Amino acid sequence: MKKNRSHADGKSATQAADAYIAANLSAVQPSYRHTFHAMPPIGWMNDPNGFNYAFGKYHLFYQFYPYGASWDSMHWGHYTTQDFIHWRLEPTALAPDGTNDSDGCFSGSSIVKDNKLYLMYTSVLADIQTQSLAVSADGVHFEKLGEVIPSSRLPQDALRTEFRDPKVFLRDGVYYALLGSRTANGEGQILLYRSRDLLEWEYVNVVRRDRYTTRGIYECPDLCELNGKDVMLASPQGYETKDWRYENWQSAIYMVGKLDVEKGTFEQDYEDEIDGGFDFYAPQTLKAPDGRVIMIGWMQMWSRRMPTAQHGWAGSMILPRELSLQEGKLYQRPVRELKDYRWNEVKHAHKIIKEKTVLAGVCGKKTELHVLFDLGQAARVGVEVFGNRTRSAKIYYDRASDLVVFDRSGMGIDISHDASEKDASVRSVRVDTAGNRLEMLILLDVVSCEVFLNDGERVMTGNVYSGGTDISFFAENGEAEIVRLEKYDIIN
Ligand code: FRU
Repeated sequence: MKKNRSHADGKSATQAADAYIAANLSAVQPSYRHTFHAMPPIGWMNDPNGFNYAFGKYHLFYQFYPYGASWDSMHWGHYTTQDFIHWRLEPTALAPDGTNDSDGCFSGSSIVKDNKLYLMYTSVLADIQTQSLAVSADGVHFEKLGEVIPSSRLPQDALRTEFRDPKVFLRDGVYYALLGSRTANGEGQILLYRSRDLLEWEYVNVVRRDRYTTRGIYECPDLCELNGKDVMLASPQGYETKDWRYENWQSAIYMVGKLDVEKGTFEQDYEDEIDGGFDFYAPQTLKAPDGRVIMIGWMQMWSRRMPTAQHGWAGSMILPRELSLQEGKLYQRPVRELKDYRWNEVKHAHKIIKEKTVLAGVCGKKTELHVLFDLGQAARVGVEVFGNRTRSAKIYYDRASDLVVFDRSGMGIDISHDASEKDASVRSVRVDTAGNRLEMLILLDVVSCEVFLNDGERVMTGNVYSGGTDISFFAENGEAEIVRLEKYDIIN
């Protein structure tokens, strides 16, 4: 068994990280900090890892670099929560220090076996990626057990440098792991492995290969079960834009179907984008004790400029979402625990909106806003959030294109984007507007905006740094109506 390498002062690499956090926390500037979303105490956060329920609480691990607000040598940070709103900082779980992970402990998942919590993660050394295990008997302190899937166990045409992000699960007494991979000629694929004990693994098959639409690996595969269907999630790099879908440089997709673990095949009924906004990636799911399937994801996107970095931190998580399948499609709703933090209810009904309309008591930037619009005859109908005298972001229905648009071009800060993206300021989705109605549920948390359309039919997530608290409504070229509205301040 490998032990953490000791530092000169006798601290392990995880203890050194925790000492650094404690000593430097006060340097983090608070102005952009969220109030009900998970974010790093200091430094950098990307993917959620090991999202699970164990030892009577939910665990969120995450890709973490404590020593600076940019991606670097990856640790696993750790939070626990009972309600997905309050996140309790736990000691750093993993740090790159072993013989096979000196270049980083990349993403992975967790599983409970014999009352112990196992973390399965990608260990990186000199560009070679292998899968390793760590174990904890208390859910706080983790001991590394070393490599369990060497890169020699890859199929012949797969790259040893692109083999990562194991999603471990149990089916009929056998452990399985889905893994992101890439072939030598550039195709993204998802592989299946099998084990009796989590320690010895054998390769089963390629469950998903995409010859035409990716320009890279499928990162962070995940799997959950909804209505008796298997739902695979994955985050392909360079997924080809289709109409208004997949406009980010890296996308997060879901695939509904049946996974045959014996053969290692996935018979697919449907696939689609999970979130049509700007900032959503690498989602993971857990099964809650009450049966809910709950998803979390990174509320950022690779290649973007992150204005919080100059404040000493970067990257955060979405508010976890409850998943369901309705007519074979994924529906997402904010976790119901959020309702316990609603304050200062404001309600309106049957308000005609023209041009710009402000409603009494409707403002804020730590806010939950529900609006049901009757779209009337207007060409565009929507809401402006995070507004001040000169800046805001808009979410609106556009009749000409029949799309719902999230436009953050007016937020006053330029977020750079990858050359393959059209921009990083406008995204669109199509939803059902039968009856000329559209429902929006919007969650604002200082610099984040999550928009749930028609009770979770589609979601658009984006960070908005304009900073204002004004909320107003508008209808262009015609009138529309707010049939009903509810607003709450979220205070925890
Ligand atoms: C996805 C990802 C993973 C990798 C991790 C490294 O965002 O690139 O594939 O394990 O981030 O931090």
